Amino acid sequence: MQPSRHQYRWRCYVVRNSFDFKQMAQKIKTAWFCTSCGAESSKWTGRCHVCGQWNTMVEERVSADTSKTLKSTHRQQSKKQKPIPVPLIEQSDHERITMPSKELNRVLGGGLVAGSMVLIGGEPGIGKSTLVLQNILAIKSRTILYVSGEESAQQIKMRADRIGRSSTADNCFIVCETSLENIMDHVDQVNPGILIVDSIQTIASEAIESAPGSVSQVRECAARLLKYAKESAVPVLLIGHITKEGSIAGPKVLEHIVDAVLQFEGDSQCMYRLLRSIKNRFGSTSELGIYEMCQRGLREVTNPSEMLLSHADTEELSGVAIGVTIDGMRPFLIEAQALVSTAAYGTPQRTVTGFDSKRMNMLLAVLEKRAGFKLASKDVFLNIAGGLKVSDPALDLAVISSILSSNIDMPVPRKICLTGEVGLSGEIRPVSRIEQRITEAAKLGMDTIIVPAHNLKGVDTSRFDITITEAAKVEDAVRILFA
Ligand code: TYD
Ligand code: MG
Repeated sequence: MQPSRHQYRWRCYVVRNSFDFKQMAQKIKTAWFCTSCGAESSKWTGRCHVCGQWNTMVEERVSADTSKTLKSTHRQQSKKQKPIPVPLIEQSDHERITMPSKELNRVLGGGLVAGSMVLIGGEPGIGKSTLVLQNILAIKSRTILYVSGEESAQQIKMRADRIGRSSTADNCFIVCETSLENIMDHVDQVNPGILIVDSIQTIASEAIESAPGSVSQVRECAARLLKYAKESAVPVLLIGHITKEGSIAGPKVLEHIVDAVLQFEGDSQCMYRLLRSIKNRFGSTSELGIYEMCQRGLREVTNPSEMLLSHADTEELSGVAIGVTIDGMRPFLIEAQALVSTAAYGTPQRTVTGFDSKRMNMLLAVLEKRAGFKLASKDVFLNIAGGLKVSDPALDLAVISSILSSNIDMPVPRKICLTGEVGLSGEIRPVSRIEQRITEAAKLGMDTIIVPAHNLKGVDTSRFDITITEAAKVEDAVRILFA
């Protein structure tokens, strides 16, 4: 029998709605995460409501079960803890594992603390895996588990051969794995003294449905590894990639979770690499380690001014001035190189590498207005030697001197170095830690250092084996250098 029109409509309604119910039951739960700070939101927003960054929200799958399990573990943990009055808290000296590389040790604040989680971040190809592998291969006292989610065991062996330590490291175990659950099984079997995860963006937990490298995965994996580190007192070293814009989920999100963040930076085309401590719960953040990437791994640069000294014997050239800068706690000498030429096109070019371009424009305006040099119709190129980026304003005087030297085509004497910040009215302003700077210049065999006037109050200048000349204005420095 044909259904009546009314019955037909009713059936359609039931079918349509039952289908909807099915859909609803299968509906995938998603949330929006900020790739910069990891904040979670139920809907998309153009700007993160926590960190205020624009266009950083990405949608990710979340499973309802995970949030439940996470909540229950938090509840269990909070039950175990008991509030203690401050005087009764036992103070324990952190046990530190001394790393073979002195630079790494220093940046870590004296070694790797047992039970800590350290993140080494940096752009792809900068040498993070090499730094870690080189160090762990030289450790003999502990079993090490190196989990790689990026390279095969053969590739890691090839790198170890290149570094030249593969044959003796029988306490170092390599496993290529990307599942967090499997990694924890391997950890149970090997029972390592140090755990390395290379890289955190390739690891995924089965409890979370989103792809490896997503904010929720990175956070969940790091939280599980942190729990392991704290419970077992095994230090965990995480490697994380960060793009030039710092946009990929990972290091930025992890900064809140881990105990220390070390940033490995430098230009991958240049040899020199800087290891900086950005956050350290067990040491100072103003430490800096310097390495050189060689054919057979990374070489420590214990004397950073070596970068400069290698060219010390060459003839004097115009457009080169040596400045004394401080990065973190370390003073070093660095070369500012400039080229000033008549503009080839109508608009003069200003090209800067390793120095703030706005600051160079400011210095050019000061030279023009206060010192009477006509540079408005000239192309100016500035480069800081060694591929380093310098933000210390004390390099201003060296930058100005290199530009003037190129402009008038007269070399700055090679045994003279400069330090001083240049103010808008052409005055040379005092700089921090002047004694350390003078000591470094004297140590490297400089004859003269030009320092800001009034910077030497309370400093016993007779103890330095170098001539110290004071300059109050840019004109004074020009007179000393080129008169
Ligand atoms: P890698 O450690 O793989 O970088 P990351 O883990 O940060 O992505 O190494 C980066 C580069 O270093 C690679 O391009 C090759 C180079 N390299 C050397 O120049 N010398 C060496 O001894 C090694 C091991 C690598
Ligand atoms: Mg790597």
